[in-house]
Amino acid sequence: MLSGDIYLKSLNVFYGPVHAVKGIDLSIEEGKVTTILGANGAGKSSTLKAIVGGVNYTGSIVVGTVPIDGMPVHKRVENGIVLCPEGRGIFYTMTVKENLLAGAYTRKHAKLELAFEIFPVLKERINQIAGTLSGGEQQMLAIARAIMAEPKYLLLDEPSLGLAPVVIEKIAEVIREINKRGITIILVEQNTTLALSLAHKAYILENGRVAAEGKPDELMKSDVIRQKYLGGVRA
Ligand SMILES: Nc1ncnc2c1ncn2[C@@H]1O[C@H](COP(=O)(O)OP(=O)(O)OP(=O)(O)O)[C@@H](O)[C@H]1O
Ligand SMILES: [Mg+2]
Repeated sequence: MLSGDIYLKSLNVFYGPVHAVKGIDLSIEEGKVTTILGANGAGKSSTLKAIVGGVNYTGSIVVGTVPIDGMPVHKRVENGIVLCPEGRGIFYTMTVKENLLAGAYTRKHAKLELAFEIFPVLKERINQIAGTLSGGEQQMLAIARAIMAEPKYLLLDEPSLGLAPVVIEKIAEVIREINKRGITIILVEQNTTLALSLAHKAYILENGRVAAEGKPDELMKSDVIRQKYLGGVRA
């Protein structure tokens, strides 16, 4: 099992002629919540996909002291690097239970207990077809399914997307709870208020480059950064 901080070193992602991520350097501290912010198309999802091995990249990704660049996706998942993708990616025609068990495909002894502890609502709905859950419940299921893979590093791509404020607050609680259990979180969000309230460190991407980085309170001290990248949010 891998452990330690994650370092992205001169990471580039190309899709044919499209240069989506342009040589970024990120440090992701073990046990903390790091957020990656930025406008549509800034390269946030591409960065997460590179970490989990879902896209080709150049540069290097190091976990602790181990470069993982040659490692295929399923090995990274076995080593505890797990992505909860944008748009949820749950199996809509399968039940809650079937979705959860599918998330544990790399684990021999899948345990539903942890998922139910963090998401009691799913226990009540164990046999419900996923497609009939509410939007918030579906997002909970997507995160719960990722938890079933027993992550050390949980990568969340826009978990608040399309959800009502009260549900977003629930998601925030869940992310805090998961992090308290020692799981390192990398959170991609367009909801900057949510992300900055959870994060120990933030990176702001712009056109595939790091435009700013720092602790949330430091970033919010800068009027330029607040106006330009954070939608004018206040601490
Ligand atoms: N499979 C692909 N093929 C071609 N171009 C792609 C592909 N995936 C992403 N891109 C392009 O790469 C750039 C970065 O995309 P990415 O999905 O990483 O952005 P993002 O920051 O996650 O945006 P959003 O907030 O809209 O999800 C965009 O210009 C996008 O069009
Ligand atoms: Mg994205």
